[in-house]
Amino acid sequence: MFHIFPARGPRSAITRPTKVAGIPAGMMAAMSEHFDVHGGARLTGEVEVVGAKNSVLKLMAAALLAEGTTTITNCPQILDVPLMADVLRSVGCTVDLDGDTARITTPAELSHRADSPAMSKLRASVCVLGPLVGRLKRAVVALPGGDAIGSRPLDMHQNGLRSLGATSTIEHGCVVAKADTLQGAQIWLDFPSVGATENILMAAVLANGTTVIDNAAREPEIVDICTMLVQMGADIEGAGTSTLTVHGVDALHPTEHRVIGDRIVGATWAFAAAMTRGDITVRGVNPHHLDLVLDKLRLAGAEVTPFDGTGFRIVQEDRPKSVDFVTLPYPGFATDLQPFAVALSSISEGTSMITENVYEARFRFIEEMQRLGADARTDGHHAVVRGVEKLSSAPVWASDIRAGAGLVLAGLCADGITEIWDVFHIDRGYPHFVENLNRLGARIERVAGDPERS
Ligand code: UD1
Repeated sequence: MFHIFPARGPRSAITRPTKVAGIPAGMMAAMSEHFDVHGGARLTGEVEVVGAKNSVLKLMAAALLAEGTTTITNCPQILDVPLMADVLRSVGCTVDLDGDTARITTPAELSHRADSPAMSKLRASVCVLGPLVGRLKRAVVALPGGDAIGSRPLDMHQNGLRSLGATSTIEHGCVVAKADTLQGAQIWLDFPSVGATENILMAAVLANGTTVIDNAAREPEIVDICTMLVQMGADIEGAGTSTLTVHGVDALHPTEHRVIGDRIVGATWAFAAAMTRGDITVRGVNPHHLDLVLDKLRLAGAEVTPFDGTGFRIVQEDRPKSVDFVTLPYPGFATDLQPFAVALSSISEGTSMITENVYEARFRFIEEMQRLGADARTDGHHAVVRGVEKLSSAPVWASDIRAGAGLVLAGLCADGITEIWDVFHIDRGYPHFVENLNRLGARIERVAGDPERS
């Protein structure tokens, strides 16, 4: 039986944000705007990728582990960074955001309660749990928000903390954790969860004795946080493998750290080149973080030239050929890139099978792609997409960051002007997205919105 996910109810877990302390007025205004995307452009030129959203927010949380001022550079100027700053301020930190630099001053006395309104606006806010438990041996952390991409439980985070000797319950919308002492332990994760690995790691660095996390996440962002923690005085072995060994230390000290380039944003530009038959040079991202992705795009017909650890060039001359995609934890094909795989397949020559193994609700994106004329259907966690020559413009709604960016790429390949609503999602993950696209030859306008329409 073929199953199309239900017609839209609430479009996302996070509603358009209201005023949040620390968010610049310009970013707030962006929340009721839409994009007009003119189809037909071939994207050419060079684009610079800055620090990874899914790294910087965790590095900011890690600053809670050391009294004093931690400096993080290469921060992306996206909505989630001031939101995370607000979360840290709510537990007593001073946060100064200055261009691409975040300076976080953590006091000796921290509050164990992280329940500010900003907590519900992003998933990464839950990453204050591990550091608070590590430092204070107790935490009350409001359940996080974030993209509506499927069930996002915290059982592995909680079980990990329990293995270290803490109690953990959900009370009144908060994770409540307490411990007399934290004792290193052997922890096996059911699934290599990024967030659970980070939270357990950040508690374990200050536990007594040795913790071994098996089936740990191996994402480059995990390696990045391990690098920063080691600079702060932590003792961690195995970063980038599925076994992390953490020897607890008494205290960490502040550091200065540069965030790794955003591989998901880098991949977005790669898909943009493949879909528009473009020629884009992407700088600021390690191409090895995208080995599998770039290989898939080669199969689709792109010519890809990686530069030594610093970027790549991608050129697509002909209509892309269909390719199958299967999402898996790193080094598999990232679930965050699944909307781009669907968008590419929708205009490719042939039929693609896309399998989603991490977040089932991500196929909701296909409903919006169908508005643009995509020939796609889903059956459980598989989608079959038959490529069409051209998409046709329509009003569509972004349901999360990557779905929003995927719709923009699809709009570039559609006849006419595609209106994309709820673009505040895109602003949560893509710094200067419209400006960068227009510089590459696209024609996209950010239009002041009528909130009733979206
Ligand atoms: C992070 C990324 C997100 C990405 C995802 C997977 C951030 C802010 N977000 O999310 O963009 O799509 O990794 O690469 O970094 N799970 C459980 N129990 C848990 C934790 C997770 O069942 O306690 C399940 C989830 O439902 C999901 C899978 O594990 O099916 C992976 O989730 P996880 O890796 O934890 O994703 P996040 O860290 O939330």
